[in-house]
Amino acid sequence: MAPARKGMVLVCLAVVILVAVGRNGGAEARKRGKQSLGFYELRRGEFSMVVTNWGATILAVRLPDKNGHIADVVLGYKDIGSYVNDTTYFGGLVGRVANRIAGGRFTIKGRAYHTYQNDGNNTLHGGHRGFNQVFWSVRERVTGDFPHITFAYRSYDGEQGFPGDLDVLVTYKLDGDCSYSVTMYARPLDKPTPVNLAQHTYWNLRGHGNGTVLGHAVQIFASAVTPVDGDLIPTGAVAPVAGTPFDFRAPAAPGARIADVEGGYDINYVLDGEMDGQRVRKVAVVSDDDSGRVMELWADQPGLQFYTGNFLKGDAGKGGAVYAKHGGMCLETQDFPDAVHEPGFPREVYRPGQVYKHYMLYKFSIK
Ligand SMILES: *[C@@H]1O[C@H](CO)[C@@H](O)[C@H](O)[C@H]1NC(C)=O
Ligand SMILES: *[C@@H]1O[C@H](CO)[C@@H](O)[C@H](O)[C@H]1NC(C)=O
Ligand SMILES: *[C@@H]1O[C@H](CO)[C@@H](O)[C@H](O)[C@H]1NC(C)=O
Repeated sequence: MAPARKGMVLVCLAVVILVAVGRNGGAEARKRGKQSLGFYELRRGEFSMVVTNWGATILAVRLPDKNGHIADVVLGYKDIGSYVNDTTYFGGLVGRVANRIAGGRFTIKGRAYHTYQNDGNNTLHGGHRGFNQVFWSVRERVTGDFPHITFAYRSYDGEQGFPGDLDVLVTYKLDGDCSYSVTMYARPLDKPTPVNLAQHTYWNLRGHGNGTVLGHAVQIFASAVTPVDGDLIPTGAVAPVAGTPFDFRAPAAPGARIADVEGGYDINYVLDGEMDGQRVRKVAVVSDDDSGRVMELWADQPGLQFYTGNFLKGDAGKGGAVYAKHGGMCLETQDFPDAVHEPGFPREVYRPGQVYKHYMLYKFSIK
């Protein structure tokens, strides 16, 4: 980003932060308001990514196509200011609890908690100001052959209604020629709390702004989904994908059957294998014939939210790009949505002394 433009963006952010401080006046907000904005490029050969400490957000991922043409394959806004009031979650690290909490309330050990209702009566992606809407600090930055950066955030007791202080770390690391990992940790300090972090990058392997992803080939290693009600809250059921438009066990184009899915794909897949996570498994493979780009996703989580950018509607993106409906897809590995209300779903509440861990690995290649 050019220095002049960066200056403008910084001024813009400073104004927003002052507004935020004025509104809740908390010491925590003031503390966060002092932090500064940074942009960090991780590069290995022709593969590179750009991340920022605002929301621990991935701003760009660049790699060549089959003709050596380099493109940025993730969606994003033209400047950081646009991320501040963002409701698309481009590239952000979402939490404290990704996805929906029905009614914005839950109970732990008999105590009721009310979280910010930013999606009708539900809490979505941690509330009005989730982890994608705060400054993180840079804990460690390492350059060289395997460049990486670790961002840290201390979430406070009562933030968006969640219980207890929580330390969160995320590391973005290039750990191969055309691959990177995302490693997330969270540690409750004083109260049990639900934790479910997710990386919310939108992919378009043709290059961001270059048409839709409906023609990509998508394979998801999952035999079931968790069906939802009209508010996108899981009913608690686990339904087989066989014979439905949700079956991506063999590679298929989302566009082929999306007309049969009300609203487009936006559902949690129950990944094949053990439900408790911990084991790294191949989650999904996405490829695009025109560019030849292939992306494999590996992770240790039980679920994958597959979302086909159904709410995009001509959003103004980087470099003058315009993102039409289905202009990007998200593959968010996670715990199941609304797990605080579903005893049949894998555990989501962590106690002080326990550590939440989430590992993702993206491998890119050319076919
Ligand atoms: C974000 O929204 C607030 C409140 O609506 C507004 O005052 C502010 O200008 C917006 N910030 C940006 C960067 O658009
Ligand atoms: C929220 O809950 C109230 C009370 O149950 C209900 O009347 C209202 O329709 C709900 N709103 C939405 C957007 O679901
Ligand atoms: C869009 O994708 C096609 C197919 O890969 C490619 O030929 C074209 O150069 C791309 N356009 C842009 C602007 O990147």
